Amino acid sequence: MVSRRSLFLPALFIFLFVFIELASAQITVYSGRNRALVEPLVNQFEAETGINVRIRYGGTTQLAVAIMEEGRRSPADIFWSQDAGALGALHSGDILKVLPEHIAATLPPQFTNPANTWVATSGRARVLAYDKNNVDSSTLPESVFDLTRPEWRGKVGWAPANASFQSFVTAMRATEGDERTREWLRQMKANGAVAYNNNNSILQAIEAGEIQLGLTNHYYIDRAKSGNPNYGIEAHQFGAGDVGNLINVAGLGILKSSKQQDEAIAFVAFMLREYAQQFFMNEVFEYPVTTGIGDSDRMLESILGITPDINLDALNDLDETLRMLRQTDLL
Ligand SMILES: [Fe+2]
Repeated sequence: MVSRRSLFLPALFIFLFVFIELASAQITVYSGRNRALVEPLVNQFEAETGINVRIRYGGTTQLAVAIMEEGRRSPADIFWSQDAGALGALHSGDILKVLPEHIAATLPPQFTNPANTWVATSGRARVLAYDKNNVDSSTLPESVFDLTRPEWRGKVGWAPANASFQSFVTAMRATEGDERTREWLRQMKANGAVAYNNNNSILQAIEAGEIQLGLTNHYYIDRAKSGNPNYGIEAHQFGAGDVGNLINVAGLGILKSSKQQDEAIAFVAFMLREYAQQFFMNEVFEYPVTTGIGDSDRMLESILGITPDINLDALNDLDETLRMLRQTDLL
């Protein structure tokens, strides 16, 4: 006869095993986004789900390369990219899993790639900054290509070494072709476009009256405005579909090799929910990527109608952009 004790022990072990398995569910995220932006959200996710998140921070490109080198043995379950280009690189390397329909269905098509192997978590728009006290907004150009006209000679600032600018040039190559893009770069330079180190210096130069217009990201202006109600710089959007209105995104992809697919999907879903979306809007003035959240519908309406029609996976092709910028003596 089997004793009670001999039944009890195996049952106890099974119970402990299942308990420890659940309690120790853990995922690893490689994050090209800053700790300041990621940590508060991850803490909230952990508190809600009981899933532990380990994070390796680094540069977006550096982490994408690490994932490719690690191959199927990568400890990463999730890649959180600062821009669409690196997600496109992992997609073309066949490293990312196709996300479930209910995830991709949350976002407008502009905020996922056609294969649904990644989703945006927030967006940032390219805009033309101008000082409303110095420039009559009705004279502002309909296209980024018009900035090569004589009336803007020596009046436009840009930041050729800046990653967002380079993504925009890559987008221009994808939508207009290499030849037209190279020609635009040359003509801008010939028209006296002034190079700055970064977006903040462009805005300072506009304020100082050194230049009148600047190619930058929308949130630099929103950020400055929030600290100063009298701030005079505004964002101009080009005509509908102009590549000068590119929206680049930060986003998430799940590795095919992940053994924690359910937990990884829960993580992605969390970043598309109100708590996270509000956080990106409030903390860094980025655009939300899902509808029905606070001001998000109004904000999305203002950008989705005018953004160029582009597969953001194409932003992956940075090497050729860098070569082009060197050829034209901009780097
Ligand atoms: Fe930035």
